[in-house]
Amino acid sequence: MTRSRHTQVAIIGAGPAGLLLSHLLHLRGVEAVVLEVRSRKAVEATVRAGVLEQSTVDLLVACGVGERLLREGFVHRGINLRFDGQTHRIDLHRLTGRAITIYPQHEVLRDLIWTAVAAGREVVFEAHDVRLHDVDTDQPLVSFIRDGDEEELHCDFIAGCDGFHGVSRPSIPSGAIQSFEHQFPFGWLGILVAAPLSSQELIYARHERGFALVSTRTPQVQRMYLQCDPDDDLASWPDERVWHELGLRLETRDGWELIRGEILQRNIVCMRSFVAEPMQYGRLYLAGDAAHIVPPTGAKGLNLAVADVSVLAPALADYFDTGRTELLRDYSAICLPRVWRAQRFSAWMTAALHRLPDMDDYQGRLQLAELEQVVHCPTAAASLAENYAGFPLPEPALGIPWAELAERCVLRPV
Ligand code: APR
Ligand code: PHB
Repeated sequence: MTRSRHTQVAIIGAGPAGLLLSHLLHLRGVEAVVLEVRSRKAVEATVRAGVLEQSTVDLLVACGVGERLLREGFVHRGINLRFDGQTHRIDLHRLTGRAITIYPQHEVLRDLIWTAVAAGREVVFEAHDVRLHDVDTDQPLVSFIRDGDEEELHCDFIAGCDGFHGVSRPSIPSGAIQSFEHQFPFGWLGILVAAPLSSQELIYARHERGFALVSTRTPQVQRMYLQCDPDDDLASWPDERVWHELGLRLETRDGWELIRGEILQRNIVCMRSFVAEPMQYGRLYLAGDAAHIVPPTGAKGLNLAVADVSVLAPALADYFDTGRTELLRDYSAICLPRVWRAQRFSAWMTAALHRLPDMDDYQGRLQLAELEQVVHCPTAAASLAENYAGFPLPEPALGIPWAELAERCVLRPV
């Protein structure tokens, strides 16, 4: 027999968007159930990016899930651009008063899952065959299979937080949303390495052979990327080729050395831009990667997901508190300017640093001139820094004064 019940908000997907939305709703007294197709172990183990903007950190701390982030995250006040054998530091903090924090996405997820479980909130892992029904009515329904049995979740709203390949966006009739998409003709080969830091801050390198990035996870584990063919097979990148290529693309004339180590994991990341407009249909609201994707060059994906739910949570709470629908009506209109600003910035960073398959020498020189402009022109450097460190969250972020918010938290900010 099908088990049937009601919740206020059915959230599809336990990524950063879904889990943070559920937490923010909880703080506003709104009940939600999260449905996630993968196991908790798989969610907590998936390696993704880990650059948190200042406003992301501020929000996570203010809403009580930032304790470990403050303790274990690494604050970086600058990033490096490397081209033509030279390294140029962009001082994010001096230029903007803000910094970034390196804290892997799966650690953010672990903190959010722990908080949800501690508060007795429901996150259903391994929820299979999730389907959305009647999203254009005021009584939507989500069906799914748990342990082989069908369940139905009646709800007032559905939040589609199930990433780019989820079921939420395809549940919207074609024609009701417009999609904007661009596929880049290259990918990134990412490696996790057991090695000490090669650099105190991230290095974004432009080279004739292609882009390279030196990032970090912990003082003992580093994350590095190499531009590659999107159809490359991991087997065509044995360790020696990876190190050789990283060495060439990161070479400088100042004696800097890349520290090698055991490669613990490798994957190929595809590079795509995508925006769905509007980010809502009927009683379904899309957030995070379900609504938009950026290439990872600007490190904006996770931060955009956080910004979306910082708007969606108070909009939903406002409806349940007062019956007002204005914030929900304007959800997309509030989120999309930030989304497009991140699209522009990510596309610009990507174009400035990558080698296009058909690039000629003239275009190569223009790329170098663009980077020279960034490192020598203070306003250009400030523009990069502002976009990279991130803008303040859109009003009405949370809809609760910060001090009052902290009072409602399960964990107190430290
Ligand atoms: N049913 C239930 N859950 C699903 C389904 C489905 N049909 N399809 C996908 N999911 C789950 C995924 O397993 C994943 O855990 O939805 C979650 C979506 O999480 P993310 O892809 O991380 O998306 P989001 O929360 O929007 O976060 C965006 O994550 O993908 C990175 O680079 C991206 O950093 C950005 C951030
Ligand atoms: C990462 O650490 O995985 C990372 C850092 C910066 C990026 C993308 C990914 O731009």
